Amino acid sequence: MSDPAQSGATVAGGGKAARKPQRRESFTGRGAFLIAAIGSAVGLGNIWRFPYVAYSNGGGAFIVPYLVALLTAGIPLLFLDYAVGHKFRGSPPMALRRLHERAEAIGWWQTLICWVIVIYYAVIIAWAIRYVGFSVTKAWGSNPEGFLTGGFLHVASNVDVEFHFVSEVFWPLLLLWLFVLAIVATGVEKGVTRASWIFMPLLAVMFIALVIVALTLDGASVGLDALFTPSWDALGNYQVWMAAYGQIFFSLSVGFGIMVTYASYLKPKSDLTGSGMVVGFANSSFEILAGLGVFAALGFMATASGKPVSEVAGSGIGLAFIAFPQIISQAGAVGPILGVLFFVSLVFAGITSMISLFEVVIAAFREKTGMSRKAASWIIGGVTATASIVLFPTTTGLKLLDVTDHFINNIGIVGVALLACLVISWALRKLPVLRDHLNEYSSFKVNNVWMLLVSVVVPLVLLGLWITEVITVASKGYGGMPGDFVGIFGWGMSILVVVLALALSFIPWPHRSAIHHELTHDEELARENSQQTQEGILS
Ligand code: ALA
Repeated sequence: MSDPAQSGATVAGGGKAARKPQRRESFTGRGAFLIAAIGSAVGLGNIWRFPYVAYSNGGGAFIVPYLVALLTAGIPLLFLDYAVGHKFRGSPPMALRRLHERAEAIGWWQTLICWVIVIYYAVIIAWAIRYVGFSVTKAWGSNPEGFLTGGFLHVASNVDVEFHFVSEVFWPLLLLWLFVLAIVATGVEKGVTRASWIFMPLLAVMFIALVIVALTLDGASVGLDALFTPSWDALGNYQVWMAAYGQIFFSLSVGFGIMVTYASYLKPKSDLTGSGMVVGFANSSFEILAGLGVFAALGFMATASGKPVSEVAGSGIGLAFIAFPQIISQAGAVGPILGVLFFVSLVFAGITSMISLFEVVIAAFREKTGMSRKAASWIIGGVTATASIVLFPTTTGLKLLDVTDHFINNIGIVGVALLACLVISWALRKLPVLRDHLNEYSSFKVNNVWMLLVSVVVPLVLLGLWITEVITVASKGYGGMPGDFVGIFGWGMSILVVVLALALSFIPWPHRSAIHHELTHDEELARENSQQTQEGILS
């Protein structure tokens, strides 16, 4: 226990624990970590968000702010998450508690953000599961929008909170939750890693097939022209730069605890920065691929309906569940193939991201309570799945999802990432320790430039994003929805998450908790070194 900041016993004031300290669960190797981390990063954000963000923020010229955002914020923040998770060996609350006693609340804020996101993220995957079948029968007839809000989701015409149950979403959602809980309950190696090895290659094959089919459609080049024609003037607009940074944070899964948790399962001698580079560029490559597929298909629709691409392009729920069904209907015999490829891709990309979001929650509660992984998965998972099933397959579900998603991403994630950067860099001054940790076994060495990015550039960008967002929603409201609805499910939810995070951080760590029983990074490293020395002597 050379470093007191890392010692579970020192932090928790323990030492009374009778059980032998345990090694932390770990990924079997670098490949396992990479596939899981790429699986987390590549999600709904890549497929339905990136293409439209790029198109509406300068088209081909967007590559400039996007690459700048990736190199100056995405990858540096990814390194920060890896360093915290790997050095302090825990999910956000335990890792940050080991970093400094008072930082635990930030970890809980990140954990609860993952918790809120996973509750509604699952619902979108459940819709996509239903839409795989709908693509074959073209269940939406001639009106995909009316079908989504009417025949399928039965969205209430007013924004009153009406929790009438919509059974069409219930069954796929329940099955999805049981599947994900079973994966997470099985553990990092047998559950998370295996699932990633199955879903990610399948996703790559399906999505490449989708791109090939989309590129063969009439008018595909019109869509690609619209996406890639650079509008260089956009580079002078600060909102374009903010959009690039906003896209990078969510898409790479940085700043809200996922990568902290996954890095905590890496073996002590790991190439952190090299892995970060691979994850960052793999995620961006998938975004470009998604841009090709989505805009080729939109180009086809624009040509077939005699409209400009600007009139048919969109993002998020509108793109996936309204525009794509229109494309499927117009594409004749190819339509169902395109539909199945698109919605199965959404499901596969979504499941691996959902697993990573849920793993943060399970790891955090398991570590703090000392519960077994299985018990935590089924108990915490049961509560989470119930919240997801009760709140979202309802007539209010779509609006609730819209508000929650907007606030948790733009105010929650941006806020907690900003606080974490400021506290770690300026209040605790831990960047030099983290830099040295990153450089210990990594192929790509970081220096003071990384510290400058994390302590100054990233916080400035995040502050700009956060202030702009708060002023906009405070003055204009959100999405034309009633103030009390946004007040409860937007502002109220965001504040509740912070209050709960503080409350959880004040609960003492019981003696059976992981902070008393799991080896710290230095202890595991010492064990590994002594084993190697003994093996050397014996051989
Ligand atoms: N990074 C994940 C996504 O893009 C959460 O959906």
